[in-house]
Parts: sequence; structure tokens; C-alpha cells
Amino acid sequence: MTVYLNGEFLPVEEAKVSVLDRGFIFGDGIYEVIPVYGGRLFRLGHHLERLDHSLEAIHLTNPLDQEQWQKILEDLVRRNGSGDQSLYLQITRGVAAREHDFPRDAVPTVFAMSTPLESDAAETPSPISAVTVEDIRWKWCHIKAIALLPNILMRRQAVEQGAGEAIMLRDHFVTEGAASNIFIVNHGVVLTPPKSNLLLPGVTRDLVVELCHANAIPCVEGALSEPQLRGADEVWITSSTREIVPVVRLDGIPVGDGQPGPLWQHLRDLYQVYKQAFREGRVS
Ligand code: PDD
Repeated sequence: MTVYLNGEFLPVEEAKVSVLDRGFIFGDGIYEVIPVYGGRLFRLGHHLERLDHSLEAIHLTNPLDQEQWQKILEDLVRRNGSGDQSLYLQITRGVAAREHDFPRDAVPTVFAMSTPLESDAAETPSPISAVTVEDIRWKWCHIKAIALLPNILMRRQAVEQGAGEAIMLRDHFVTEGAASNIFIVNHGVVLTPPKSNLLLPGVTRDLVVELCHANAIPCVEGALSEPQLRGADEVWITSSTREIVPVVRLDGIPVGDGQPGPLWQHLRDLYQVYKQAFREGRVS
């Protein structure tokens, strides 16, 4: 595997970062995950825009402009073969003596890697179970911060109960999954929590909302309460690497009739058609 680190392309074994890097010491950095289909970076503009928002929120200047990012990331993808890939990029505040306040002259550490992405349009994703957990995170969850302790602890809790995702509740309202956004369907209407500081504005989430609007599927971005979640006909999770996955059991209880629902199937088909068009260069 070839990775990118501070201006260089290197074999992963040779890429080294100082133990004084603030990403290592404080979790002081942000990241993005971008799916790559047919060598093309899916929704790159949206990911780079979110990257800018995350950087701005933590007072870090983007060390590269849009064109430079695109060039580096496309180069990295080419070096890692022609299959579908999951591209990860991370920027930290760089190397400095350990001090909470920002260092004046640290140079940000820029890292990117790309791993094979196992998603195949022909394959039907396995439905998952999910569990609900209390959202114990801070209130700046719109920032894609590398500090993910709550999320990984919640995911562990889900896995220990044989589930594939943890769905977070804050004051009895759904925020998001440990690494995904949440959708439900009730009486034919798709509902997802609105964007706010309490959840990550998912790029996949936005595309699903867009696809609903473009195909006359009723879709509301509004508060999603715990009773609405528990009484839903369908529940889905969305993310760049998992796309749209149906949740068929919630806290051990079947969702709807316990099978992936018809609207999930419809959205999944629309998503695959969109992806195929992207692969073939028919959409940008
Ligand atoms: N995570 N919410 C959280 C907390 C996430 O970590 C993610 C994705 C999402 C979905 O965002 P998007 O559709 O832009 O991927 C929502 C990535 C995939 C990860 O951490 O690996």
C-alpha cells in the first residue's frame, strides 16, 4: 500500500510521524473518508467542502487548495490500483511540545491512504441489527474530528450485542449512528434528523435526500424522536463506505416486518444507478 505523507508518496511501512504530533498526543485533527469508484472520487467537492468547514471550526488553515487536494488524491488512488477504494485523509495540527494552547509555528501533518472498498452494485448488502445508546459526545459533532473515543466505544457496545451499528439518542431524539447517519420510513415518508451541531452532515445522507427529492419520494429533514424510531416501518443507516444499509432489528425487536423494506430497496436501486452513471463519467 502506498500512502501520502507531507508531500511524499511512500510505502505504508516507511511513513512515520513524530510521537509529538498533536494528532497522537491530543487527537487534535480532522479527517475525511471518500469512496472511489472506477478511479473517480465520489462527491469529492462535497467532501472537500466539509473538510474546509471542519478545519475552520478548529482554527486550522487548509494547507492545500482544492486543485492540489484533487491532484494528490487522484495520484494516490492510481498508485493503489484500479479497484474501488476507500480514501482516508487526515490533517493534524502538527508536531509541537505538549502544550494545550495551539503552537504558533507548527506545520500541519497531512496524511492520506487508500484501501480496497468492498462494495459491489450486484451484491445485496446484508441487513443489520442495531442497538440504541445514549449520545454521550460533546456538542460539536458536525466537525469530522479524529478524536472518536465515544464512537468507538459505542460501536464496541453494538458489536458485543451482535449488532452492526449503535444509534445514538440525545434527550430521546435520534442524532446519528456511531459512524453513520440515520433514516426512518413511516407511512411512506422518509425522515432523517436535520443538520445541526449534534451530528455529522453526511455526504451520503445528502445524496439520499437529493435522490428522494428527484424521484418524488416524500422526504423530511426533521427531528426524529425515540418513539418514532421504535415505531418505524423501516430504519436505514448511511455512510460513504456502507452506502445505505437496512436495519431489521432494533434492540432485539424486529423493525417493521423484520425484513428490508420496499423504500430501502427503491433508494438502494436509485443509489446504484447514480453510482454507475458516476463510474461512467455521466455525472460529476
Ligand atoms: N464515517 N456520522 C458519523 C459519526 C460518521 O463517522 C460518518 C461516516 C457519517 C456518514 O458520513 P458520510 O456519509 O459522509 O460518510 C455520519 C466514516 C465513513 C468513517 O469514519 O469511517
